[in-house]
Amino acid sequence: METVGRVFAAVALPPEVQMALKDQLSEAGLPGKTVPLANLHLTLRFLDVVTDVVYDRFLAALAPMAVQGTFRVTLSRLGVFPNPRRATVLWAGVGTGALELARLNEIAEQAAQTAGLTPEERPFHPHVTLSRIRPPLNVSHLLDYDIDVSWRCSHMVLFRSHLVRGGVSYEALDSYPLVR
Ligand code: 2AM
Repeated sequence: METVGRVFAAVALPPEVQMALKDQLSEAGLPGKTVPLANLHLTLRFLDVVTDVVYDRFLAALAPMAVQGTFRVTLSRLGVFPNPRRATVLWAGVGTGALELARLNEIAEQAAQTAGLTPEERPFHPHVTLSRIRPPLNVSHLLDYDIDVSWRCSHMVLFRSHLVRGGVSYEALDSYPLVR
């Protein structure tokens, strides 16, 4: 058994959507440490460090994904964790596509448990992290900021994270189509 590394299942943002989001946010003056453009993604299930056996079992249990079909995802607002007055994470939230993403999360959750991982206890909250804020800040003024980007989601992607100088980079390991 070998370790695959730190892995998560996600919806990738196409490069042109990453660019459009960056453009739309250029006047916002995002606080904190912003996520590099190429790293913007929407996590469906964080697996953490897994062995090749668990990873292969997870992939094999993803077959129900193909029933979903492709669908449109829109990012239409800004939001924060845990609350606007003491925000530590600023994110872009989903408008269109939330139901389908929740379904993919359920399938990924089921596959993770089939592969032997412990259930995720935190509720699924689809988001694209834009910035991490330490110490926490009041960012209430940003919640009305307008964003509107969208794309057709056709795959779920398995990413492996690597620590690189001062940050992290994500490597796509596998891509799972949402259509047969
Ligand atoms: P975040 O964007 O909200 O930080 C890679 O780190 C991806 O996995 C990120 O999207 C991150 O979510 C998510 N992630 C990291 N650690 C996690 C954890 N312990 N539980 C759930 N998701 C996690």
